Amino acid sequence: MSRDNNAFIASGSDLMRRAMQNRRLVPDVPHLKPMLDELLSGSVVCEVGCGPGGITLDIAQLYPHITVLGMDVDEESIKLAQEAKDKAGTTNVRYADGDACNLDKLITVEGFEALDGGCDLVYSHAVCLCHHAHGRPTISQMRKAAKSNGIISLKEGDMGLFFAYPENAGMKRWLETFPTLSLGKGADPYIGRKLVSLVLGAGLTHSQLKDVSMHGQMQWRPQVKSGLVLGFGQIVRQSALGEDDKKLIVEGLEEWSKYEDGVVSFPGVIVTAVKGV
Ligand SMILES: C[S@@+](CC[C@H](N)C(=O)[O-])C[C@H]1O[C@@H](n2cnc3c(N)ncnc32)[C@H](O)[C@@H]1O
Repeated sequence: MSRDNNAFIASGSDLMRRAMQNRRLVPDVPHLKPMLDELLSGSVVCEVGCGPGGITLDIAQLYPHITVLGMDVDEESIKLAQEAKDKAGTTNVRYADGDACNLDKLITVEGFEALDGGCDLVYSHAVCLCHHAHGRPTISQMRKAAKSNGIISLKEGDMGLFFAYPENAGMKRWLETFPTLSLGKGADPYIGRKLVSLVLGAGLTHSQLKDVSMHGQMQWRPQVKSGLVLGFGQIVRQSALGEDDKKLIVEGLEEWSKYEDGVVSFPGVIVTAVKGV
């Protein structure tokens, strides 16, 4: 599989993998809950780019009557997901590594046969579909994996909507730099606003769109802010930025994480469509 197809800015960062393992259905993808609530026993749900599996494991535990599939191009993330599932003793979730652009290659993997047009819900969250060349093929593969009348749901950030307060010099520089760093990985930092266009380009029609909305989270808890600052700091240190910039940003982020009134927002754009018959 091609690791070049991973546009996630922090791929390879263990710190970020561990942080993502704390993701859950309700705080991170609340738009999926009403869809999951309606699924009948035996239904299959697939997360494309599931990372270390925080959301998939949560769904599997909340909905023991459905089967949850998780796939990701990052083998280390899949290993972590598998370990967490084994530790929890959850049996209705399975993981496999693979490239979302070639989702159909997983059809032959035991337990993943439903990817052959048998999934009730295929979703992605912050997968950085953003890689321009890969967004449409990925969505087109998600569409193929969904059954007739199945749901395809995407949520992606848009860095043009990010903001922080109070904005010290280091945080200001970070907010300016973050989109540029992701561009360096081949990603599109403004993907959120382009999701409808990508979905239509992948063959879904306007009348199949069911929801186009935004979900915004404000991070304000000291622990979350410290975790973010650690992860961002690692990205900055590993980047090609100059030493002065790195110092300014890292110190600014650390200072910001200590502000009692410090907040940062990462809104995501949600697009949900129903596949036709
Ligand atoms: C920000 S993480 C999100 C993980 C998970 N969806 C979550 O919300 O916790 C992005 C994930 O997308 C994965 N990814 C990026 N490109 C991919 C591709 N072409 N195929 C499969 N996974 C991919 C990365 O490896 C990474 O685990």
